[in-house]
Formats: sequence, C-alpha cells, structure tokens
Amino acid sequence: MKHTIVITGAGKGIGRAIALDFSRAASADPSFEPVLVLLSRTGSDLESLAAECASRGVQTECIVADITEIGALQALVEDIVGRHGTIDCLINNAGVGRFGPFTELTEEDYQYTMDINLKGTFFLTQKVFPIMESNRSGHIFFITSVAAEKAYPSSALYSMSKYAQKGLVEAMRLYAVKCGVRITNVMPGAAVTPMWGELDKVTKNLMMMPEDISGPIVQAYLLPQRTSVEEIVLRPVGGDINE
Ligand SMILES: NC(=O)c1ccc[n+]([C@@H]2O[C@H](COP(=O)([O-])OP(=O)(O)OC[C@H]3O[C@@H](n4cnc5c(N)ncnc54)[C@H](OP(=O)(O)O)[C@@H]3O)[C@@H](O)[C@H]2O)c1
Repeated sequence: MKHTIVITGAGKGIGRAIALDFSRAASADPSFEPVLVLLSRTGSDLESLAAECASRGVQTECIVADITEIGALQALVEDIVGRHGTIDCLINNAGVGRFGPFTELTEEDYQYTMDINLKGTFFLTQKVFPIMESNRSGHIFFITSVAAEKAYPSSALYSMSKYAQKGLVEAMRLYAVKCGVRITNVMPGAAVTPMWGELDKVTKNLMMMPEDISGPIVQAYLLPQRTSVEEIVLRPVGGDINE
C-alpha cells in the first residue's frame, strides 16, 4: 500500500536515519510502499539521500525549503497532495539547537531557535492536519527531546523551544483523537548528529546513534492504525551527557 511520508530535516542526522529506515522496511515488505518526501534547506543532502533510498526501490521526492517561510507552506503542502494524492505521515523533525550559558545567548539565537523549532513546526502542522482530519487517518510525529521535560545548564533556549513543542503535541492530541489521527512525541536524549558539531571520541561513546531513534519511529508507524504509540523516550544507557 502506498504511504506518503513527509520528513522535515531529512538531509542530516535523525531525519536521514528515519528515511533510510523507512526504505529498509519497504525492502523487507513489498506490500509497504512509502513515497518519501524529503525536505530541508540543503539540496545536495537530499539528493544523496534520495539516491540511497532509490537503491532500495523506494520512490522519493526532494523539496528544498525552509519551514520558517510560513507564507509558502500552504502551497508546498497543496503541491505534495497534488502530486501524491494525500499525506499519510508528517515527521516534524527539522530543528536546531543553540547552546551556551544563559547570559550569553543572543537575540539572534533566540529568534533562530524559535522560528524553526516553534513557528515552522506549528504552521507546517497546521497546513497538513486538515488533510489527515478529512481522511480520518494519519500520523504526526514530533521529534522533541528529553529537553522537552528537563532543563540542562547550556540549553535555556533549546529547552524553552522543546517544552513549547511538547505543548503543541498535547494540544494536537485534543484534535487528533477525534479523527483517528495518531500523534507520537519522540523524546530522544543525546545522539551523534551534525547538530552537535565536532565531537571527541569519548563524548561520542556516551551518546546514541541516529538509527537508534529512527528504528522505533518506523516501528510505531507500522503498527495497525488502531494503535497509537503516544510517546517514545530514548536515552543513552549511561544517562544524559550534558547535566
Ligand atoms: N541529536 C540529538 O542529540 C537530538 C536529541 C534530541 C532531539 N533532537 C531533535 O531531533 C531533530 C533532528 O536533530 P538532528 O540532531 O538530526 O539535527 P541535524 O543533524 O542538525 O539535522 C537537522 C536537519 O534539519 C534541517 N533543518 C534545520 N532547519 C531547517 C529549516 N528551517 N527548514 C527545513 N529544514 C531545516 C537541517 O538541514 P538544513 O540545515 O540543510 O536545512 C537538517 O537536515 C531536531 O528537532 C532536534 O532538536 C536531537
């Protein structure tokens, strides 16, 4: 069966791992036919990812877009529906972290973080949800963080944005429950991705890998539509690294 799956921030890190895991799932089960709509601001990332997915026989579409361009989102969603018929799954993964001491974070750090993690995520979800509502079916994942319920010394802005994303998740549940749409809040701890910049080997060894997070997401999606995995919390076995 065909499934149109939109993944924001697909080009790197966790989003990329999610796309690859959906591709593996399709290779393993020919009755699962995902159409992966891969979205981020960097076309070259998306093209290399699309080639990897295509090597497993999976149909992809690359969309170079910035989710903070709110005025363009309605047309972007309509175009996806025009080409693929509907949207079955939205993975709100695009996100950024600006870390540092509370007294040193700037207005630009604030604006950049909130524009992407909150404004872009909110308005994209707002444009996609009515499609699922009218289908009376669909699945929206929010890749929040363990920082959606716990603060860390260098994460004042990041935690603010992730606590707020969790607020959006809870609000969306009130709508989704009425129309058979599944909502999953994915709360990972530290995973080795480009978001962290350069990491030394010792620190990397204390972290998860992106595929540790993508696997459970794909499994949650593949459960019968009658069953909703409401939360996925994943931490490095030794606990959080940035206490
Ligand atoms: N890594 C972790 O330890 C960790 C832990 C918990 C939660 N998370 C969350 O997981 C999500 C993915 O993180 P990651 O670690 O995989 O980060 P990443 O490696 O930096 O990847 C983020 C992706 O989002 C895209 N992106 C950023 N801003 C965008 C925008 N305005 N419009 C469209 N795409 C945008 C980036 O591509 P372009 O820059 O090319 O657009 C990139 O493909 C984030 O929401 C993050 O907060 C990460």
